Amino acid sequence: MAPIARVCFAGGQSGQWRVERIQAVTGEALPPVTHVAMLPSPEGTTKIDGSVWTLRGTAGHVRYVERSEKLALQSIQAGLGRPEATRAALIPIRKSGAWWDLAQDERRSIFEGVSHHTAVGLEYLPAVARRLFQSRELGEPFDFLTWFEYAPAHADRFEELVARLRATEEWRYVDREVDIRLSRVQDG
Ligand code: HEM
Repeated sequence: MAPIARVCFAGGQSGQWRVERIQAVTGEALPPVTHVAMLPSPEGTTKIDGSVWTLRGTAGHVRYVERSEKLALQSIQAGLGRPEATRAALIPIRKSGAWWDLAQDERRSIFEGVSHHTAVGLEYLPAVARRLFQSRELGEPFDFLTWFEYAPAHADRFEELVARLRATEEWRYVDREVDIRLSRVQDG
């Protein structure tokens, strides 16, 4: 599957992903929907017709990854759209003003030096395929749209990963997080 540079996730009554659950982890929830569509987002689009909510993001440059981590990620990561990866998670996240007030080196230190986000995440590759979209610069309600795909057999491991990350210092700066779990709608 070709990487989508500008994405929108439309929550509503149609789309290739059926909602299994929506959980407000921190802060305000999102209105309930039965389906989510992941679509390339035409420039200027803020809402997809018929959707209850539309979240937009762009696949920008990485901020914290160092060379060795980049190579490690590239050597092991899987792409989106694997036939066996019929489960997905869309987890929109916003970080607090205190996070954004920090300097770049302070954020990197919390993200990796203390919380080991990439090192922990790497343990779950290639079972989990991931994509990070940036939303903050678009003036969206969330700063990040995180997207993950995995096979049903790896669902428990994904829960373990999410629990480990939520227990880190980095997550003390998360002030809104909604966890949306999805199953791919079968074709035909
Ligand atoms: C599957 C394993 C995972 C790996 C290998 C991984 C790796 C990474 C990497 C390398 C970055 C930094 C990108 C950059 O330099 O800008 C990142 C950012 C991020 N990841 Fe993960 N991650 C994983 C799982 C998760 C999960 C499960 C969540 C949510 C529950 C998550 C949420 C985020 C967020 C919100 C950011 C942006 C942080 C910021 O810029 O402040 N990640 N991840």
